[in-house]
Amino acid sequence: MRRMSSLFSPLSLRNATARNRLWLPPMCMYSVYAEDGRATDWHVQHYAARSSGGFGTIVVEATAVSPEGRLSPRDLGLWDGGQVAGFARIVEAIHAGGALAGVQLGHGGRKSEVNPASEGPDSRRGGKPEWDLLAPSAVAFPGMPTPEALDEAGIDRLVDAFAAAASRAVEAGVDVVELHGAHGYLIHEFLSPLSNTRTDSYGGSEENRRRFLLRIVDGVRRAVGDRVLCVRLSATDWLDGGLTSEATCRLSSVLVEHGVDVLHISSGALLPADIPLGPGYQLPFAADVKRAVAGSEAKVVGVGMVTSAEQAEQALVTGQCDAVAVGRLALTDPYAPLRWAARLGVDDSPMPVQYRRGVWG
Ligand SMILES: Cc1cc2nc3c(=O)[nH]c(=O)nc-3n(C[C@H](O)[C@H](O)[C@H](O)COP(=O)(O)O)c2cc1C
Repeated sequence: MRRMSSLFSPLSLRNATARNRLWLPPMCMYSVYAEDGRATDWHVQHYAARSSGGFGTIVVEATAVSPEGRLSPRDLGLWDGGQVAGFARIVEAIHAGGALAGVQLGHGGRKSEVNPASEGPDSRRGGKPEWDLLAPSAVAFPGMPTPEALDEAGIDRLVDAFAAAASRAVEAGVDVVELHGAHGYLIHEFLSPLSNTRTDSYGGSEENRRRFLLRIVDGVRRAVGDRVLCVRLSATDWLDGGLTSEATCRLSSVLVEHGVDVLHISSGALLPADIPLGPGYQLPFAADVKRAVAGSEAKVVGVGMVTSAEQAEQALVTGQCDAVAVGRLALTDPYAPLRWAARLGVDDSPMPVQYRRGVWG
């Protein structure tokens, strides 16, 4: 007998409906070989495969809002109108496979150009940043050069850059704009007292530390109209004196008041820390946020070492989150959602009609 499942039931978000509750989280491909921020054929085929593979929502990797905000010279960008057409090719390919298309907009802050490109360490050019690093405060990430503390004009410029990039994403046809507020990059650096030592209105109290993000959210909300707006957060820094789940819950409630539709709950990466990795280790933080925003329309995405259909289904059934993101597993198995639907024996598999005669080996 065929069954219904939570995982493969549709997810309504502001003005869009995803066919199921599986998200492909943003994962950098470092495949902009010309280093001009423009999408390549690699991106198009990579995201197309995961859409025909059955994901409900696909969030394209961290995409820079300004050139110096890239995590590597080979990152995607939307800081220039000339980047829209290439990005639209990715969006069209995702839509052709039936998934909603999202983009993660971000700025690397003091960790820009930290990540090795996929070709290995050589492409990092000795690990030296290609540009001056920007951050809330002149406090370096261990092993990285000391960043320049942003002044008011620099903050204004970046708030505008996020809104302008969001407009370009809408022009390219995206359904979901996700802001990268996690993993130790610029927005997270403002949020955490461990990286933000400012004494002006952007530092000190929790309210001041969230001001940069809220200004970005307000600008992006205006830019995207009724498109879905998501914020990815590191729920905890896993360090004494850093962000905690309680602070993230308070922030999430405020974000919802500012028009955020989805909270995507990750953790860590502000600084090296001991993290108790294990299956679903970040889901309890998603559950905290879900409780904090209960009573609103906001949805919560959980992520981190979710690697089976049963585990994902359980996270939804027990109310830990409204959707589950599956990252690394999908790098080697773009068809994981189809496999999982078959495994759960559900009625509403995202199996493309073209593949219905396929068999699992
Ligand atoms: C190759 C790779 C690239 C990633 N790039 C990003 C990124 O661009 N933005 C982001 O927020 N997280 C990024 N992540 C983190 C993933 O989105 C995800 O949160 C993490 O892999 C944990 O989920 P998983 O256990 O299902 O893989 C990346 C992870 C990997 C493996």
